[in-house]
Amino acid sequence: MLIRLENLQKTYFTGEVETPVLHDIDLCIDKGEFVSIMGPSGSGKSTLLHIIGLLDDPTGGEYLLYDKHIGKYTKKQLAGIRNENMGFVFQSFNLLKRTSVYDNVKLPLMYSHIKETEWKTRIDTAIESVGLAHRAHHHPNSLSGGERQRVAIARALVTGPDIIFADEPTGNLDSKTGKMIMDILYDLNTKGGHTVILITHEHDTARYAQRIVQLLDGVVKKDTKVTKRNTSNSKLSK
Ligand SMILES: Nc1ncnc2c1ncn2[C@@H]1O[C@H](COP(=O)(O)OP(=O)(O)OP(=O)(O)O)[C@@H](O)[C@H]1O
Ligand SMILES: [Mg+2]
Repeated sequence: MLIRLENLQKTYFTGEVETPVLHDIDLCIDKGEFVSIMGPSGSGKSTLLHIIGLLDDPTGGEYLLYDKHIGKYTKKQLAGIRNENMGFVFQSFNLLKRTSVYDNVKLPLMYSHIKETEWKTRIDTAIESVGLAHRAHHHPNSLSGGERQRVAIARALVTGPDIIFADEPTGNLDSKTGKMIMDILYDLNTKGGHTVILITHEHDTARYAQRIVQLLDGVVKKDTKVTKRNTSNSKLSK
């Protein structure tokens, strides 16, 4: 099992104030799955994604990653897993605006153990796979929202991660552009074999996944298989 959460809890502590957010999460995700996480605003979706993505620590319960308790990994091993086995795509793109597309995509490689001789091929392949080869030397400033999100996906991909996390990746995009982004994530899952964990508010977007997990008040309220999965049309505009 790739990811196994048992009775996982998260409480934020801000000074004297305790905010319990995740109460009791039980969730397993297999390698190669595409899972959507839905739930009302404030229900803890991003918190859960950050914990699974090793960007934040749980305050209780168990998290087994690659069948091993995360407490059994050293800090260095966890950082290595996060940098090389996980890729992140956010609603607000989080790109360096005055740095070329090429150098934005290069960033995760600089924190990895991947040999420098492989970098160029990896960067070119990642940029090409999102249809942006002709924009490699532009700055994100001069790109459209959809193009920026494609750069973020290329950056998430460049290390060849097992898991791609996407927190409302279409939230700032119009529906047509959002669809193009979802087509790419769909292809990365079905053709590229990447596990995809997506947060979305939109049912139509959630149905690109095989499974929809509904969070409510810090617990998994529902975990259902998608019967009519949306598929990609895979028409990358150049
Ligand atoms: N760093 C933090 N410190 C204290 N409380 C936090 C922190 N981050 C999040 N919270 C609180 O935890 C709760 C869950 O937040 P989270 O961002 O996980 O929700 P969400 O489901 O992603 O919501 P949205 O759909 O609006 O993005 C919220 O009540 C939020 O205020
Ligand atoms: Mg959120």
